[in-house]
Amino acid sequence: MTRPVDRERLRELLRTEEERFVERHPRSRGLFEQGQRSLLAGVPMPWMTEWAGAFPVFVDEARGAHFTDVDGNAYVDFCLGDTGAMAGHSPPETAGAIAAQAARGVTLMLPTEDSAWVGDELGRRFGLPYWQFALTATDANRFAIRLARAITRRPKVLVYAWCYHGTVDETFAIAVHGETRSRPDNVGPPVDLAVTTKAIEWNDTEALEAALAEGDIACVLAEPAMTNIGIILPEPGYHEALRALTREHGTLLVIDETHTICAGPGGYTQAHGLEPDLVTLGKPIAGGVPAAAYGMGEEVAANVEEYLGTLEVSDVGGIGGTLSGNALSLAATRATLERVLTTEAFERMIALGARFEAGVTDAIAAHGAPWHVTRLGCRVEYGFREAPPRNGSEAAATTDRDLERFLHLHALNRGILMTPFHNMALMCPATTEADVDDHTRAFGQALDALFD
Ligand SMILES: Cc1ncc(COP(=O)(O)O)c(C=O)c1O
Repeated sequence: MTRPVDRERLRELLRTEEERFVERHPRSRGLFEQGQRSLLAGVPMPWMTEWAGAFPVFVDEARGAHFTDVDGNAYVDFCLGDTGAMAGHSPPETAGAIAAQAARGVTLMLPTEDSAWVGDELGRRFGLPYWQFALTATDANRFAIRLARAITRRPKVLVYAWCYHGTVDETFAIAVHGETRSRPDNVGPPVDLAVTTKAIEWNDTEALEAALAEGDIACVLAEPAMTNIGIILPEPGYHEALRALTREHGTLLVIDETHTICAGPGGYTQAHGLEPDLVTLGKPIAGGVPAAAYGMGEEVAANVEEYLGTLEVSDVGGIGGTLSGNALSLAATRATLERVLTTEAFERMIALGARFEAGVTDAIAAHGAPWHVTRLGCRVEYGFREAPPRNGSEAAATTDRDLERFLHLHALNRGILMTPFHNMALMCPATTEADVDDHTRAFGQALDALFD
């Protein structure tokens, strides 16, 4: 028997947690008020207003899977900087490499020894031979799209409704009755999204085939499993169809592994034997120092040479970034890949993800909550519908802001930080079974309060 949430009880519980939050964070509140003088909304970047609670918690220090705030409260961190800190906070190996490189030159517009090592290692993990660097996954995606357009001489990008690939103009699209529209929350789109983009639903092979058949799509840009509207896994056969159809229609396949690197050391691509034309990733690869990469196969690389071969194009052709591939980022990337986000670390992290999933599954079943839990490697997510959604629109339709806010605040007030968007948890190499069990206990208490 499953039971819906009593909205009146939810509002009451939310009020209690909001009061408790304010009481526990007087110094964070003071710093937030100070920030109002010079920062938009009192915070350095817009997402920091998304946290549950009247203001964000201000951090004093973070290490491994834990941090403390300026009021002396301690937390286990399952948000991990929305994947930027998936290697853990300041792992000693990365921190040491950063300190050493910072003392020896940060950025030169010249390569350092680490670059070829990192290129080789990414090639080994993701199965693509040639790599370039950027500072953010957003830029890696932007550059991959530009290359795809240049090579295919086609104008459009195909993405999945409710995807997120960073602040890439072409990707803020949804599908409404088969038409491509801007997401409702897209700020200042440069042109009508239908000019640059086709959006379809994830897991819909027919829609994919129909869109590609029009012959104007340069590339499909896809996370191999959606992670930004909750985790939505591909249905059996979807990736095979995606690869076969893109090849058939002369469209390049760009796989964005920025979040799905949680599936293993070579992301979902390696774990499931995908064969993309390009791979993009960023966020955790340098332990949180800005760094991103995009890799490509022989055929793409041969075509790219044609465009980047002249000085003018390689300088101001729209692909670059002064600080891309800088010495500090590459030193941090090498240390993180070589010594922190290793195969052995992933084995432990994924086992912890399974433990987290089991704890949540048991609590949901024990309370008859009409919810589900999904896992991709060391990333776990719970959602407010009984069966996992098939696509972005199904997932978006079950977003429940009040419920999310209550669960996040309830956890935060008990020393547990979840990702502020939906209900995501990520394990890092320093996460322990005790950390996971802390969440399981608190989650069970939240369900007691909601359903008992
Ligand atoms: C799948 C995916 N790709 C790219 C990005 C963009 O990363 P960044 O904001 O570091 O540029 C994100 C950010 O959440 C993401 O989830």
